[in-house]
Amino acid sequence: MIIAVDGPAASGKGTIARALARHYHLPHLDTGLLYRAVAATVLREELDPEREADAVASCGFDDLLLADEYLRTDEVGKVASIVSAHPLVRAALLQRQKRFALQPGGAILDGRDIGTVIAPDADAKLFIKATPTIRAQRRHAELKKAGLSVSIDKVLADIRARDERDSKRAAAPLVAAPDAAVLDTSFLSIDSAVQKAIQLVERLRAAK
Ligand code: DC
Repeated sequence: MIIAVDGPAASGKGTIARALARHYHLPHLDTGLLYRAVAATVLREELDPEREADAVASCGFDDLLLADEYLRTDEVGKVASIVSAHPLVRAALLQRQKRFALQPGGAILDGRDIGTVIAPDADAKLFIKATPTIRAQRRHAELKKAGLSVSIDKVLADIRARDERDSKRAAAPLVAAPDAAVLDTSFLSIDSAVQKAIQLVERLRAAK
């Protein structure tokens, strides 16, 4: 079984994808980490993320980098959103994601274009969303817990800017696949969001 989980930043897609992976005993790939690894390499080499050639030159990163907590920072997330708009960067990361999706026994991937580009034949596609304000509140709470003081307005502005860039780009924009089930986590606890996600996967599998 292949499960595709897409959605914007801080929608809850990562948490839901990890919970589904545990529930179904499937290997899980957070595809945002690949773009974040490219971004971290661009930053380290002091390259220009807006230049496609600079971003492509950073696609041969060492896999050890994927475990680095630095990748999860907002600084890297923002640059990941910039490098991910380049078609040649997406092309460089495509096969690796497709291979992961097609491994025997199935897989679950989360990102922006899993249901539309990486695994268009997935058995179940979920599109996770939540209002920008609620996503900003969640992100703000996370940052506060990590000891970082950023205003909620700044977090909201960053989320809106990232949504805009991820949705408006020409190459594989953030959009729900026509056959995806949409799950709005705005007013759901983590537990109920996960329960709803499992119900939706069961329904989608049965309908396939
Ligand atoms: O999910 P995330 O915040 O870790 O993703 C970081 C950026 O990477 C996101 O803003 C856009 C890009 N991305 C993408 O273009 N396609 C994916 N499948 C996953 C992430």
